[in-house]
Amino acid sequence: MKIIGPDELVFGVDDVAACTQYLKDYGLRQVSERRFEALDGTGISIAHRDDAALPPGLGTASMLRKTIYGCADQATVDAIASELQKDREVKRLSNGAIESEDDLGFVLGFQVTVRRPLRLSAELVNAPGAAQQRGVNAVAVDQNAPALPRTLSHVVYFVPDAAKAEAFYVERLGFVCTDRFTGVGPFLRPAGTTDHHTLFMIQTPPQMKGCEHFTFHLGGPTELMLAGSRFVAKGYESFWGPGRHKFGSNWFWYFNSPLGCHVEYDADMDLHDDHWIAREAAMGADASQLFLFQHREKWAPGGPPPGARHPAAH
Ligand SMILES: [Fe+2]
Repeated sequence: MKIIGPDELVFGVDDVAACTQYLKDYGLRQVSERRFEALDGTGISIAHRDDAALPPGLGTASMLRKTIYGCADQATVDAIASELQKDREVKRLSNGAIESEDDLGFVLGFQVTVRRPLRLSAELVNAPGAAQQRGVNAVAVDQNAPALPRTLSHVVYFVPDAAKAEAFYVERLGFVCTDRFTGVGPFLRPAGTTDHHTLFMIQTPPQMKGCEHFTFHLGGPTELMLAGSRFVAKGYESFWGPGRHKFGSNWFWYFNSPLGCHVEYDADMDLHDDHWIAREAAMGADASQLFLFQHREKWAPGGPPPGARHPAAH
């Protein structure tokens, strides 16, 4: 089944105005009252939690109402409908999309993907001994570079039964486990993408069921640092990062949000195909990241030591 990855996440939120401002400041483009898009058309939709048009909630504090997957073609959508109809209700929506739910009650949508092809450059790096990537007289650093989210990368669920959830995505939807944290959950790659994961699951008590975070890919580590620094400057609270994960190798920077979950910037995730053999590790700080930094205000030589408190603060 050629599922490419998440096209859209739908949230039912308490504070629509705060979420609207947050998603715009994060770098998504507001294309309607409730929809916010990355450069390729994938995105986030929000509505007030009492909006009758929203699918029902998960019965926890999570605000996630629906995960909509983009598929390569209508044949894939129809194949998924046939598969899921064997043991659950599948709604046909007016645009050819379908709606159903997984074995843990997460509402899922499947549609022909809205992703538009992107033609953008990646971060270019020169290194002694390697072929030149960035040309002579081409300047790498641009303070005003856009650093915008390019595409919806992945969503992470808190689940009360990771084994049951994994079985559903692998056996019914053709996802592949690329790596695993023992007793925690799998990183899952659908068949229509080479991205290390578009879904990761973390085993938690049932009352925590929901969305832990979602993230969009940026153009490279410099874009990630730039976007994150701008987000901090706008007053948003860094939760974890910047750093670089081990499984997936993606650069990360997580922030608190009013959407009831963390929101991440990510960049440069590993790609895999069916020849990849999944690794397994115990969860822990060393397994989770290669390194971790913490944001500091800018500094220049000649000033007080970086990070030193201003005398007035004592
Ligand atoms: Fe992530």
